[in-house]
Amino acid sequence: MPVILSGGSGTRLWPMSRPERPKQFLALTAAETMLQLTAARAHGDAFAAPIVVANAAHADQVETQLAEITASPQAIILEPAGRNTAPAIALAALEADGNAPLLVMPSDHVIADPDAFHAAIHAALPLVEDGWLVTFGITPDAPETGYGYIKVGDEVATGVHRVARFVEKPQREVAEAMIASGDHAWNGGIFLFCADAYLSALEQFRPDILSAAKASMEGARREGVRVYPDKSEFEASPSDSIDYAIMEKAERVAVVPVAMGWSDVGSWDALHAIAGNDEHGNVVNGDAIVLDSRNCLVRSDGAQIAMVGVEDLIVVASGNDILILPRGRSQDVKLLQEEMKRK
Ligand code: GDD
Ligand code: MG
Repeated sequence: MPVILSGGSGTRLWPMSRPERPKQFLALTAAETMLQLTAARAHGDAFAAPIVVANAAHADQVETQLAEITASPQAIILEPAGRNTAPAIALAALEADGNAPLLVMPSDHVIADPDAFHAAIHAALPLVEDGWLVTFGITPDAPETGYGYIKVGDEVATGVHRVARFVEKPQREVAEAMIASGDHAWNGGIFLFCADAYLSALEQFRPDILSAAKASMEGARREGVRVYPDKSEFEASPSDSIDYAIMEKAERVAVVPVAMGWSDVGSWDALHAIAGNDEHGNVVNGDAIVLDSRNCLVRSDGAQIAMVGVEDLIVVASGNDILILPRGRSQDVKLLQEEMKRK
């Protein structure tokens, strides 16, 4: 059963991504939005209807976007506030049938090769049914500090390896050493486990998160497919990610290394790298005239952008805001936002 996590705020894709309409609700790489692509990736005979866990403020967008692609959810669980992924997944696991294998997917990633993804899921299922927590490993190509790293251990089933060590968001030097070792993968942020296995891991390592999630679901209000966990019970949950709360600590954790064209589209540079560009290396979306320019990302949802004779620029116009930076600096959108908050 797919569980789609849609609670992120996608701040690095400002000004397109905003708190009221974050990244997962945007069509960045295709005509469909990231949420729609995610739902479509785990749709069809092999999959049950998904459970979506989202912020209550985004209820309408989730429902409308899923209806547009006729992916009827089993439930949309609406959090009154974000408490990170460990509690969000707990809500879904409590909603699901205990033995159901849950395929937990971020709502804002790209997977260019869904067949490879499906094959990896298939390879992992026997272990999942045996109580293992499974994640998917991506071949790293830079010492990124924003990812989890997995030391790939012995093969425990065809194509599935024991996780020898899981290190969430390492320091730069540690990341460099892990890449140099040649036996580490990035954690793709996609998980497969039975609801019960996850709940028992929580019981063991974070009973505080489990009890808040349970209390909030016992007091939940239901309106059609919408589920509103009790606000004060849920808000009493500590905030933590599944990676720190469970994956770094649990014993029977496995990884399926898979080349599936994965990207978490974490920045405008990342989008430039994966989007289909024209013969000059430009990626142009929206109303724009781009002359004699190379390797630019140009995107507008309204204003006309006109540029000539430039290289390696990112120009994004949305509403009244315009972002301009050289390629390679798109992580610094964070800096700009901090500055805007101060102003
Ligand atoms: N419903 C809900 N509620 N969803 C949430 C919440 C929440 O409070 N917080 C985050 N999410 C969703 C985000 O929308 C995203 O789709 C997914 O959960 C992962 O959260 P991120 O905040 O993007 O995690 P991260 O990027 O820091 O790290 C994770 O992903 C990396 C790969 O992209 C970790 O799993 C890393 O280990 C991994 O490498
Ligand atoms: Mg992320």
